[in-house]
Amino acid sequence: MRKIDIFDTTLRDGEQSAGINLNTAEKIEIAKQLERLGVTIIEAGFPASSPGDFDAVNRIASTVKNSIVTGLARCVQKDIDATWEAIKVAEQPHIHVFLATSPIHMEYKLKKSPEQVVEQAVAAVKYAKKFFPLVQWSAEDGFRSNRDFLVKIISEVVAAGATTINVPDTVGYASPQEYGELFKFLRENVHGADNVKFSAHCHDDLGMATANSIAAIQNGADQVECTINGIGERAGNASLEEIGVALHIRKDIYPFETGLNLKEIKRTSQMVSRLTGVVIQPNKAIVGRNAFAHESGIHQDGVLKNPETYEIISPALIGEDDVPLVLGKHSGRAAFRDRAVKMGYDLSDEKLNKAFTEFKKLADRKKEITEEDLVTLLTEQQVLVEDVPLYELKSVQVQYGTENIPTATVSVTTPNGEIQTSAATGSGSVEAIFNTLEQVVGGTVNILDYRVTSVGKGRDALGEAVINLRYNGYTTTGRDAAQDVLEASAKAYLNAINRQLIQQSIRVHQPTV
Ligand code: KIV
Ligand code: ZN
Repeated sequence: MRKIDIFDTTLRDGEQSAGINLNTAEKIEIAKQLERLGVTIIEAGFPASSPGDFDAVNRIASTVKNSIVTGLARCVQKDIDATWEAIKVAEQPHIHVFLATSPIHMEYKLKKSPEQVVEQAVAAVKYAKKFFPLVQWSAEDGFRSNRDFLVKIISEVVAAGATTINVPDTVGYASPQEYGELFKFLRENVHGADNVKFSAHCHDDLGMATANSIAAIQNGADQVECTINGIGERAGNASLEEIGVALHIRKDIYPFETGLNLKEIKRTSQMVSRLTGVVIQPNKAIVGRNAFAHESGIHQDGVLKNPETYEIISPALIGEDDVPLVLGKHSGRAAFRDRAVKMGYDLSDEKLNKAFTEFKKLADRKKEITEEDLVTLLTEQQVLVEDVPLYELKSVQVQYGTENIPTATVSVTTPNGEIQTSAATGSGSVEAIFNTLEQVVGGTVNILDYRVTSVGKGRDALGEAVINLRYNGYTTTGRDAAQDVLEASAKAYLNAINRQLIQQSIRVHQPTV
């Protein structure tokens, strides 16, 4: 079976999506989970773009051992230098340099002639090759580029030392047939094509990203670039779980091996959704809440008689409901730690103790603790940043009645350690809380988006609030869960503000690259 490398760009192209803003601790957690999932390459960020990205890429490169870690760079020395500084600690340093090759991008965006573009790309690859054993070069907007020009520029960057050539459908315009043909054409015409890997990178503007990626594989691509839950610019990137499971389920027609540990898919998908705040559409293939739900009587009847009547994928394949949960209110610390380790968490004793305390509090109030509840509690501790003073909710109280003006009273520990208590009104309970918290943090806070969902099923399920807000000129997404949705909302608000404090501290303490 031909091996297909899975290049995950959740932390770079995925993080570029509107409203997503992960801090370094969260990026490290996602990277560790991607490593468990078995992806070949993790694109951890764009080191030259900000000190925060530099820091995250550097820390992921020193943490992850079983996947290759790469960083994105424009074809300029300053970007390549920053990427080397961030990645040189990695086991196999890899860089991803890119330059646009389509007529429209070269003329309007780069304002360069095709000859200048070739020169810049070749110079960048030669320069990168001085440091990196693995150099991937991407022809941005490759699909809309002139084919003869693509052959010329790719042949020259291969001669300059590139080890992988990526040909993205940057704007999601290709059809599977056309994209497949492009790979076949390049394999047949590029000089030195046999010495390099070819890579596909598809966007989903026309809903064809997964099909296009598979068409590329069938026509000679050795690598596909994708994201968890398909997050990414505009309509997103090709979704990793769709490609991985499609290749597995249809191996009768796709004789390729990815090396993915498919049992980690559900957990990875949930972690990415939780940390990015991007909700997975219920009918999303593979990981949507309804992906294995059979609603109609005829279907239910069939599945009861034989699951294969309507189920082509077993939920266990992607790790859904795989581990029966045996933790409850009487479970001890050792059993809790054991479960956390089995679930892939690697927490310090202090963080584990905090998570255990929260677990006990929840077990007192909730009949059944689900795996999703545990993921919520453990991830919360895992991504907690300890060295930056932050806001912490002490208490929240709301007076609400259909005839009264809702009033909230909130007590918060501020970053300088004081306890501040404020009160304000609003047209509803949530607005009253947000108005009070705005007084506490000072300045103007604009709420751009706010959602509450339940974690799992049942009337005693945890409520999770996700809030996207603008404060001090920056936009961040915060989230938190609690048994009461008003408490979850207050905590999510402070979480969004805290993310700005963390990013501020990175901006202040890291040298600009
Ligand atoms: O879509 C695209 O072209 C990209 C490149 C940077 C590879 O993301
Ligand atoms: Zn892209």
